[in-house]
Order: sequence, then C-alpha cells, then structure tokens
Amino acid sequence: MAAAVRCCRFAVNAKNPLVSRVYALLPAQSLVHGEIIGARIDARNHADRYAANGVEFMMAEHSEAIIVTRNLQRRYDMGGEVIHALRGIDLQIDHGEYVAVMGPSGSGKSTLMNMIGCLDTPDGGKYWLNGELVSDMNDRQLARIRNSEVGFVFQSFNLLPRANALHNVEMPLIYGGMKRKERLERAAAALTRVGLADRMTHRPNEMSGGQRQRIAIARALVTEPSILLADEPTGNLDTATGQDILALFDELHAAGHTIILVTHEANVAEHAARSITLRDGSIERDQRMTTRSH
Ligand SMILES: Nc1ncnc2c1ncn2[C@@H]1O[C@H](COP(=O)(O)OP(=O)(O)O)[C@@H](O)[C@H]1O
Ligand SMILES: [Mg+2]
Repeated sequence: MAAAVRCCRFAVNAKNPLVSRVYALLPAQSLVHGEIIGARIDARNHADRYAANGVEFMMAEHSEAIIVTRNLQRRYDMGGEVIHALRGIDLQIDHGEYVAVMGPSGSGKSTLMNMIGCLDTPDGGKYWLNGELVSDMNDRQLARIRNSEVGFVFQSFNLLPRANALHNVEMPLIYGGMKRKERLERAAAALTRVGLADRMTHRPNEMSGGQRQRIAIARALVTEPSILLADEPTGNLDTATGQDILALFDELHAAGHTIILVTHEANVAEHAARSITLRDGSIERDQRMTTRSH
C-alpha cells in the first residue's frame, strides 16, 4: 500500500525512542503543541510500530488528501435543547475530487460546509485542511485560511449590489493585501474564465441570475483556493441556467479543481464523481459513481 502519513499526533512527553525517531523523520518546524502537521513520511515500514507505541497517525489512504476530518461534531444549544447538527463526521476528500453532499433539509449539509470552509469551528473532533490542523486555530488564523484556501459559492450569490462585477471579484484580493493593478488583472482573468469578459463593468442588478452566479464563482476562484465549496449553487436558478452553471463546475473539475457541492437534487449530484449523503448529522452513505452524465 502506498501509504504516506500527512498528519500524526503523539504525546510530547512520551518516553519513547520511537517518538524521537518521528522527530528525526519530520521537519522540526512542523511540530506544533505535540502535533506533527502536514508532514509526509513513508509509513509503509513504520506506521504499525509507531501506532503500537502511542503515536497516533491520521493515515491518508494515499498522500493526496486535502480534507481529513475525525469525529467532527457541532452542536447548537437552543435554550436548553441541544441540536446535534454534526454527530462525528469522519471524512477524507482528495485533491481533484468532485463531491456532492446530499441529504434532506436539516441533515447538516450547510453546517458541514461551513466547517470545511472555516466559517465555523467544531465543538469536537479534528479537521485538517491541506495538512494544517484548522480545528484548533484562532479566528485570525481561520480568516487567513478562509481567504487563501477556500472559495465559497452560495445559493443567494452574496454579491455587493452597488459594485460592478470586477469590483465584486477583486474583493477577496483586497483582504489579501494585493496591489490594485494585479488585483484587477486577476479579477478580469477570473471573469473571463467564467464567460463574463464582456460584462465586467456591469452591476449585479443589471445581470441575470446565471450571470450573477458566474460572478460569484469568479470571486471564489480569484484567490486560487485549494477547494471550491458550493452550497446549493443552482437553488435560485431555473433549470436551463442551472445546467449552464453545472457545466461550468464540470469544466473547473476537469481543469483540476477540487469541488464540494451541496444539493438535494439527484440530477445535480450526478455531475459529481462521489456523493456523500447526510442524515441527522451523520454520514449515511458515501458512494463513488462509476459513470458520469452531463
Ligand atoms: N445557527 C443555528 N442555530 C441553531 N440551530 C442550527 C443553526 N444552524 C443549523 N442549525 C440546526 O442544525 C441542523 C442542521 O442544519 P443545516 O446544516 O443547516 O442543515 P441542511 O443544510 O442540511 O439543511 C438543523 O437541525 C438546524 O436546525
Ligand atoms: Mg443548507
């Protein structure tokens, strides 16, 4: 098995020769509070021995994992009544995957997306994004990750109504501190990518729903994020326009983007290569599709 360890955890005070061997194998700067994060070592010969000696590995099936969660939990306290929105999610998503998250209303889809997108933090469990343990990060660190690693597309577009398309798309780069000329070049390239080269100076209210969603997708792409998260992106669009947007996601997937898309419609999920079904805060089914339809 071509296994590699991306993340592992151990007790720093362990009086254990194997722990110092882990130190030796991994770059020292990757050690944070007793956790080795984002490291890659060849675990084929070592993992079992380390595990038997109190070294806890987060094993990736192979080294391409971009998202790893372990026992991820989120509860909401509604005046005494506790709602378990996520009840211990174990998940691995690899670079370049196109995953549909399905399930009935209230099953935890948006809560999971917000967790993956670092808009919200878990009450329990661990989450690694690109090898970084984000579940333990503070708000400032999360804001940095959100801005650099995650592109979000929402059902309701969430555009600035008074700003034209170019300005909407350059917004994440302003937060990132990039100079204006480069920002505008990048924003123009992203709008061209989604087919809006001739609409850059139009405002959202001068555009159709499909065009608005394209602006939102350009805004999500402009920072060159590791993952593209879309929560019911076709929910406010008519069927034909929704199909255009899904075709764009297909193209982005073919170009190598990692996409996680929430939908409750089977024909939307068919665009993805894998579907994860949530029910009542747990994963009910995780299925890889063998054929794809467009
Ligand atoms: N901010 C919140 N406060 C209280 N309960 C919430 C909040 N957000 C979501 N929930 C509850 O958590 C559960 C999962 O919600 P959600 O993730 O939005 O589901 P879905 O996106 O699948 O419809 C639901 O029972 C919902 O009512
Ligand atoms: Mg939702």
